[in-house]
Amino acid sequence: MKTLVLVFHPDMSDSRINRPLAARAEALGDDVTVRYMYKIYPDQKVDVDAEQAILETADRIVLQFPLYWYSTPALLKQWEDDVLLYGWAYGSTGKALTGKELLVAVSTGGQYGVDEDGYSLTELLRPLQATADMCQMTYLEPFTTTGTLTITDEALAQRVEDYAAVLESADLPALEHRG
Ligand SMILES: Cc1cc2nc3c(=O)[nH]c(=O)nc-3n(C[C@H](O)[C@H](O)[C@H](O)COP(=O)(O)O)c2cc1C
Repeated sequence: MKTLVLVFHPDMSDSRINRPLAARAEALGDDVTVRYMYKIYPDQKVDVDAEQAILETADRIVLQFPLYWYSTPALLKQWEDDVLLYGWAYGSTGKALTGKELLVAVSTGGQYGVDEDGYSLTELLRPLQATADMCQMTYLEPFTTTGTLTITDEALAQRVEDYAAVLESADLPALEHRG
């Protein structure tokens, strides 16, 4: 299985969570490709043809990012708007992503799942789930690293190993729930 990990973090030098996660993914070998999107597109001008060509080679597409204002960093939204075109990603002739898996790997400062009164990550990530549906992709259960403001080094190291195991698994559960 060919896995493409697209990392959307504006400043990896200032990252405690996404940097080791991405580094661990990079160490997995030839079947896993990691791309640091803010480094590739510092001016946010996405090369649509290049992105589409790379996506076509992947069986599983991983979108890795820190949650910013209950959403994705801006470049990920820009990338979606530019790359996921009608006739390519969706529409009657848009089948380029059909059957591929989409895995969201998100980190959050908040303790999602602990505070019952808050919004769940499943809710907040719904636009990405709907996008996967629109592109006839299989939306996998997101890989979440929560409570990053207080996470211990030991718990983070465990999460990094969990990420490697998830990326190496050919059989991940899909998230079927619709609200
Ligand atoms: C601009 C900005 C917005 C953020 N918004 C949220 C948010 O809405 N919810 C949340 O739980 N954490 C939020 N955070 C915290 C980040 O998600 C957290 O610092 C990040 O996941 C840690 O990963 P890193 O060490 O790789 O940067 C925000 C951080 C920044 C800088």
